[in-house]
Amino acid sequence: MNTTLQSGQTLAAEIVHGLAGVSGVDVGVCPPSPYLIPIAQKLHGSTVVLGAQNCSPEKPGAFTGEVAIEMLLDVGCQWVILGHSERRQFFGDTDEVVNKKLIAALERGLKVIFCIGEMLEDRKTGRTESVLETQLSKGLLNLTPEQMAKVVIAYEPVWAIGTGVTASPEQAEETHAYIRKWLAGRFGQAVSDATRIQYGGSVKGDNAKELLAKPNIDGALVGGASLKSDQFLAIIRAAEEIAKTH
Ligand code: PGA
Repeated sequence: MNTTLQSGQTLAAEIVHGLAGVSGVDVGVCPPSPYLIPIAQKLHGSTVVLGAQNCSPEKPGAFTGEVAIEMLLDVGCQWVILGHSERRQFFGDTDEVVNKKLIAALERGLKVIFCIGEMLEDRKTGRTESVLETQLSKGLLNLTPEQMAKVVIAYEPVWAIGTGVTASPEQAEETHAYIRKWLAGRFGQAVSDATRIQYGGSVKGDNAKELLAKPNIDGALVGGASLKSDQFLAIIRAAEEIAKTH
């Protein structure tokens, strides 16, 4: 809920323009629902993919105020973000709800950016891994390895989202390695190796490269810095540089 229609369209146009000549990086944007169609128009003809920030797990029907997966597909979405910490904190998206949405999205044709992350108190008390293990095992319950191929994991420590405080590259890498190990145990090594694990939480142009250089950090889920095209493009260029050296 951070743009107007006008500023969102300008942002999308600037991103498309700024991406000319960039290669080796997959880029997507996830605008608020009312702006999906006008933003899709701005992205038309570019390689930038479109996603939504939430969806209903229900089939189209009498669910006033909700947005169906079919509607998101209809307007050109390929992706949906599920389990963002703000939805978990303020909108009742428990692990069970997130799992229901995730299965529904995958069965009906959307790919999923599945967010997990611990609170500051969890990290301080050494509970990070147990919190993530609960979110992973409940959120990905009943998923097949084939379905997992359509899921990106976004590790977003809640204390780093929108705070300007980012996890250190070492902290993030350690946690990503834990998530990778967990995925190998649950889905097998091949699926684990192929899964993109993004880091999110105060990623900016000037810290992206250090984070993305880590072996288990495969991308970024960007909030605040995605609202300024120069910042967002700086992150993409950092990713491009890293991709060239790997
Ligand atoms: P931030 O947000 O980049 O502003 O910390 C991340 C997010 O909301 O996913």
